[in-house]
Amino acid sequence: MSEEIIRNWKKKNMSKEKRIVSASMLASDFSQSGKEAKAVAEAGTDWLHVDVMDGVFVPNITVGIPFVEAMKSTVTIPLDVHLMIVQPEKHIHAFAKAGANILTIHCENNPNIHFTLMEIRRLGVRPAVAINPGTPAVMVEPILPMIDMVLVMTVNPGFGGQKFIPETLAKIRQIRQWSDERNLNLNIQVDGGINGETAGLCADAGANVFVAGTAIFGHPDGYAAGIRALRGNATPAANTGNG
Ligand code: DX5
Ligand code: ZN
Repeated sequence: MSEEIIRNWKKKNMSKEKRIVSASMLASDFSQSGKEAKAVAEAGTDWLHVDVMDGVFVPNITVGIPFVEAMKSTVTIPLDVHLMIVQPEKHIHAFAKAGANILTIHCENNPNIHFTLMEIRRLGVRPAVAINPGTPAVMVEPILPMIDMVLVMTVNPGFGGQKFIPETLAKIRQIRQWSDERNLNLNIQVDGGINGETAGLCADAGANVFVAGTAIFGHPDGYAAGIRALRGNATPAANTGNG
């Protein structure tokens, strides 16, 4: 019992200290991507999240290798590249060369995922695996020791601005438990509908990396305020003097 209390205490304190924010460029103004990337880096995001979609694995098409290259030459923070494409193994070399620091591939369409993850590591890039809302946590269990991060999708991938799916919290809890029991020290990332409030729910469940597009690029008080809210220390709303 006391061990459980200590574990919960550690988890709570860790998640508060170490929230990593990854700003999703999908919600930025694409007519000025370089400017947007610089602005969000200056506003304090830890990583830059690039969503690569192929119109096959997900019903949307976004950006590819040249965009990652362009981001690499624009900012110095880590590039967190989320591949929502079929046959990612065909493209990991090109994304590594373009400057990706973290490469996340999905487990739903990858019969040879073990091999692809080894290859990502061999290329000097940090490997991560994503699971969709309809995919059970057990799908990633056998590969946990070989990755740096699990991305628990908190919406169905394909579009920004969707509503957080609360049923995904149980999977975050389960994966954090496996990580603690096996001393894996995994990063657990959440992506989709993440704002100050849902980030808090996910942090309590054991997540420590928070991807957000709308909550940063669409924050009424600017990018830095959006990032602060995700870290759990939003500036209280200004007193309007009405009360
Ligand atoms: C969705 C993408 C997300 C998306 C999140 O498929 O993987 O990274 O940009 O957008 P928000 O934060 O607006 O839900
Ligand atoms: Zn993403």
